[in-house]
Amino acid sequence: MTEPDALVIEPLDRRHDRTGFSCGLSELDRYLARQAGQDVRRRIARVFVCTAGGTDAVLGFYTLSALSTDLASLPDELSRKLPRHPAPCALIGRLAVDRSAQGRGIGRLLLADAVKRVVAAGETVAIHALIVDAANDDAKRFYEGFGFLPLTDGPTRLFLPVGQALLQSPKGWER
Ligand SMILES: CC(C)(COP(=O)(O)OP(=O)(O)OC[C@H]1O[C@@H](n2cnc3c(N)ncnc32)[C@H](O)[C@@H]1OP(=O)(O)O)[C@@H](O)C(=O)NCCC(=O)NCCS
Repeated sequence: MTEPDALVIEPLDRRHDRTGFSCGLSELDRYLARQAGQDVRRRIARVFVCTAGGTDAVLGFYTLSALSTDLASLPDELSRKLPRHPAPCALIGRLAVDRSAQGRGIGRLLLADAVKRVVAAGETVAIHALIVDAANDDAKRFYEGFGFLPLTDGPTRLFLPVGQALLQSPKGWER
């Protein structure tokens, strides 16, 4: 097992080997292999990959984009305190870890890295919350473990106010 401190998370570039990546969901594997580079070039998404220091094989990745969300789809107790117009958010559209490396803390590291980048971006451009699209119920449980709450407008979208992300999540961002 690669020690966590030997792992690197950085923007995807041509050097990274994505061909062998397999997380168990072919849609996400295909995205990384075929579309991620194009999305980066077109500024549709930023893609960050995790590799073991000194190697190029992708062990995990996530995408970040901006989106605007209708606050009416937040649970009542939160939407009540907010303005009645769409709020600026950051979307983790995809996040996955190679099967060979699952269960070793890389998903947590990727999420912690995304939170850090969103908090830093939020110093310049207001970002109210982090939104994630969970691929399935398993993924939903993964995010819920970090304090994400379901939005009321769809079964797979969850959110976490940035103010709350700055506080310790139930599982802690980093171990
Ligand atoms: C879901 C996924 C990203 C988790 O990555 P990972 O590296 O295996 O997760 P970690 O080892 O960092 O686990 C972090 C915590 O989440 C928990 N966790 C991991 N997978 C989980 C799941 N499917 N359901 C509930 N909790 C989960 C772990 O138990 C751990 O909690 P703990 O520290 O309290 O034990 C990974 O399994 C994956 O890529 N799955 C396929 C693709 C996918 O579903 N992507 C998600 C949304 S698009």
